Amino acid sequence: MTKRIVAYSRLKPTHLDQLRQRFHVDYFEALKNTDDPGFREALGRAHGIVGSSLAITPELLDQAPHLEAIASISVGYDNYPVEALTQRGILLCNTPDVLTETTADTGFLLIMTTARRAVELAEFVKRGEWRESIGEAQFGSDVHGKTLGMIGFGRIGAAVARRGALGFGMQVLYSNASPKPDLERELGATRCEMDDLLARADFVCVTVPLSAETTHLIGAREFGLMKPSAIFVNIARGKVVDETALIAALETGGIRAAGLDVFEREPLSPESPLPHMSNVVALPHIGSATHETRDAMAQRAVDNILLALEGKRPISLVNEAAWRERS
Ligand code: DGY
Repeated sequence: MTKRIVAYSRLKPTHLDQLRQRFHVDYFEALKNTDDPGFREALGRAHGIVGSSLAITPELLDQAPHLEAIASISVGYDNYPVEALTQRGILLCNTPDVLTETTADTGFLLIMTTARRAVELAEFVKRGEWRESIGEAQFGSDVHGKTLGMIGFGRIGAAVARRGALGFGMQVLYSNASPKPDLERELGATRCEMDDLLARADFVCVTVPLSAETTHLIGAREFGLMKPSAIFVNIARGKVVDETALIAALETGGIRAAGLDVFEREPLSPESPLPHMSNVVALPHIGSATHETRDAMAQRAVDNILLALEGKRPISLVNEAAWRERS
């Protein structure tokens, strides 16, 4: 019997062809929401899912009695009910590693553009306001030699820190559930309590995954601990930060600036003041969005689903327990 999969992210022909050689594929190019009746019908017959950016709920899983595996085209898996998947023996696969460096580049891009006010000043030139040599009103702050505080020190956090320590001579502080002695040796990084990090860092960069524990991890109290000159960067998930508190800190001079690739609501609400603030650089969640990296992520998802539906261990598996149960 040919297995069936539902694919709902935009995929290149080369990735779709690989799937179609092995499976019957119901393809929903850039599906906007999971209420789509055609999608629901296909889900009822599907053994596998390949996609990203849509929430898969336990209620949806109830409508997918044959489902064996999901291959998400993302490293983050906050869109999936991991426990419900594991209970049902459904494998959840993601795409770590292949996006680490590109996402870290985005983090450093935000550090640089906010510190040097690159977007704000490019707009100033575009508006024709550069009529004489610039003065202090246009000065930014140095990045090299400053203190970089990493909240979360997994693969992406370490890659941002590596750029800072080795490329810009920054002192790295990190707060993370477990110590990382290898990175401490490699980068001269120091582990500390989050409050201590917030008080000492010139740049605070968040890379923790979103979970119940990390929702609103950074709120009014945490912004209150940061230096008024501090720059806050978020390349993790918007919900890790209490956005109302962030806006207040930016408006009142509690912190100097923010570089944001992620928001509590995406796409960003048209009512949000954030993109209109001169001390904010707001990007449309481009963390891993380069041609090369998105191709590599799609390929990883294809490889994961091919292996999973053949009964083999996928390359990157989120819920080991479901695999152990199966074997
Ligand atoms: C990820 O892979 O989790 C990125 O944030 C893109 O969604």
